[in-house]
Amino acid sequence: MAQPPLTPEMLVPRLGEYLVQQGHISEDDLKHALAYQQEKAIAGNSLLFGEVLTEMGLLNRAELDQAITKQIIQFRTALENANRYLEQRVEKRTAELQEALRKLAELNQLKSNFVANVSHELRTPLTHIKGYLELLVVEALGTLTEDQKNALLVCQQASGRLESLIDNLILFSQSAHGELTLKLGSIDISKVAVEIINLSKAKALEKGVKLSAQIQPGLPRVQADEEKISWTILQLLDNAIKFTKKDDSVTLSINAETNELIMISVMDTGIGIPEEKMDKIFESFHQLDGSSTRHYGGTGLGLALVRNILDAHGSLIDVKSVVGKGSTFKFSLLAVETTSEHP
Ligand SMILES: Nc1ncnc2c1ncn2[C@@H]1O[C@H](COP(=O)(O)OP(=O)(O)OP(=O)(O)O)[C@@H](O)[C@H]1O
Ligand SMILES: [Mg+2]
Repeated sequence: MAQPPLTPEMLVPRLGEYLVQQGHISEDDLKHALAYQQEKAIAGNSLLFGEVLTEMGLLNRAELDQAITKQIIQFRTALENANRYLEQRVEKRTAELQEALRKLAELNQLKSNFVANVSHELRTPLTHIKGYLELLVVEALGTLTEDQKNALLVCQQASGRLESLIDNLILFSQSAHGELTLKLGSIDISKVAVEIINLSKAKALEKGVKLSAQIQPGLPRVQADEEKISWTILQLLDNAIKFTKKDDSVTLSINAETNELIMISVMDTGIGIPEEKMDKIFESFHQLDGSSTRHYGGTGLGLALVRNILDAHGSLIDVKSVVGKGSTFKFSLLAVETTSEHP
């Protein structure tokens, strides 16, 4: 259906009130005209209000056009003012948002600086504590009773936990600054694996978890930052042991997936991770057991850092998990051709 042509009169709502205001017609004229317009409409003849006024002889066409034009000009001015006001408000809000964003970036920077500074400050006294504990344990400062020895061993374990927490925080602040630089080299991954298994043995034994390693013989060396990759595998083993029960098993496997890719996987038969929580576990400070009665410990930084470290290596972590059955965390590293220790 064709649209009726648009007339200025159609653009001006409540024309009647305006004409009364301007003294062109009286209140009574308006009432009569509206009643007349309604009558016509009922009879099937819809008239515009301006047409009604001219038909009734209340205004001539020239007066009507003049009144309408004046009203349109008023509308246009009002619209322009409203637009200007809106633009000013948008400018102001944009400036406020930019300022808030700048403050947020500054705060984030302060937070990372704070974490970095505090972590370094914590490390110095801890080094002294660890050093003297070691002297005491080896009885370099005098002989000890069995009870004293046991107490010192607990202190050593606790200071070890503190040290790893501080290391995690330092790594976190480095990666938050985008300063996670790698010292890449050609590393003997089988040797690294044996060292890591030895480091994790005590924890597994303490929990009654069966820890084993399946390392394919004759693996080529891989391109990686030895310290950070060792830390990564240790974190995955630490989680695997932590989130399994007594008599469950944890296995570290290293195999050549292809000539170039060496696959490292940590498998456990522990509590598992629900499908919908899979992405969350890689967020900093995120722990699935967030209740106040958390009994697994930790800060929720491990996997976030694991992901950052692997990312810097150009590698991705892959997780497969079934609740109540266990989880497997896997990633691959690039093999390098050099096989000798000192190329
Ligand atoms: N092998 C696993 N089995 C079951 N849940 C796991 C496993 N590994 C990680 N998770 C879940 O992912 C969460 C995040 O792990 P992440 O290593 O980042 O933190 P954390 O171990 O709790 O603390 P941190 O590593 O800082 O000591 C854990 O709290 C746990 O809920
Ligand atoms: Mg962890």
